[in-house]
Amino acid sequence: MKKIGVLTSGGDSPGMNAAIRAVVRCGIEADMEVYGIHRGYEGLLDGEIHQLSRSSVGDILHRGGTMLKTARSDRFRTEEGQRHAVNMLDTFGIEGLVVIGGDGSLRGGCDLDRKGIKVMGLPGTIDNDLGYTDYTIGFDTAVTTVLDAVTKIRDTSSSHERTTVIEVMGRHCGDIALHAGLAGGAEAVLIPEIEINLNELCRKIVVGANRGKQHSIIIKAEGVSVSSQELVQTIEERTGRETRLVVLSYLQRGGSPTYRDRMLATLTGAKAVELLKEDSSSKAIGAVNGEIVAYDLQAALKQKREIDREMYDLIGVLSK
Ligand code: F6P
Repeated sequence: MKKIGVLTSGGDSPGMNAAIRAVVRCGIEADMEVYGIHRGYEGLLDGEIHQLSRSSVGDILHRGGTMLKTARSDRFRTEEGQRHAVNMLDTFGIEGLVVIGGDGSLRGGCDLDRKGIKVMGLPGTIDNDLGYTDYTIGFDTAVTTVLDAVTKIRDTSSSHERTTVIEVMGRHCGDIALHAGLAGGAEAVLIPEIEINLNELCRKIVVGANRGKQHSIIIKAEGVSVSSQELVQTIEERTGRETRLVVLSYLQRGGSPTYRDRMLATLTGAKAVELLKEDSSSKAIGAVNGEIVAYDLQAALKQKREIDREMYDLIGVLSK
């Protein structure tokens, strides 16, 4: 394989740049030409494709966001769009593609794979919602950002003896809430995978306050069916305690990637190039039990992500 492309797609995540850098530099080392495709599948359809050099990916390792920009593409979801994408890759002589993105982006990679393109998928999303890998690139940084916020919010919540609901991202996955809840000492974590029990939640707040707890921190994943505003109102009404809402939103997607995210991005990026060089079939690359793994792309995306029930129960025990 002589020419490969790399793109980032979907929501950006800290560590995407580290992955791009690894793909570009390992690709050049392996005597390949590496092309950066701007704005994800949208840019692919529009032919926004430029050759990258070693120096073009200098000074990006530690930066959040993605130097290639990213987008969500409706055009690419159509059969016509996918055929056009394959033709565009052919026009530029690109034989293999590294796709860095979340579930939807890697599914786009599956569509291209079915049309004969070799695709290496890297799990680039803060959501940690891919079943085949223990962690996704950006998740660790996002949780670290949430923890920083939780620590600050605890100070003011204690001073005012308030309950604070902190809404975090994750789409349909509760992993950001779960990990930040355990590491941040939340009183409760609400995630889409486990049905919410309002009575139990409010009882816990009241009992805790009566025992002298100065504040209650509730971390709620955005995918929970009850709206955060509604939840805050219900808690306030039922417990009689002042309750505030903090929505962390896009804060969670920015910032310099942590050591863990840089390592995951760099090692999966290097693996993608190694596999393309070997002319391997399409793969989803990730990490399981601390080892870099590469599974058949289509099969990997069929793996359902299971929530860690023990972790959830432990939060309950520690916050009693
Ligand atoms: O998938 C990453 C993510 O940040 C989700 O957690 C969130 O639901 C979504 O993207 C937000 O998307 P957008 O950037 O389109 O608002």
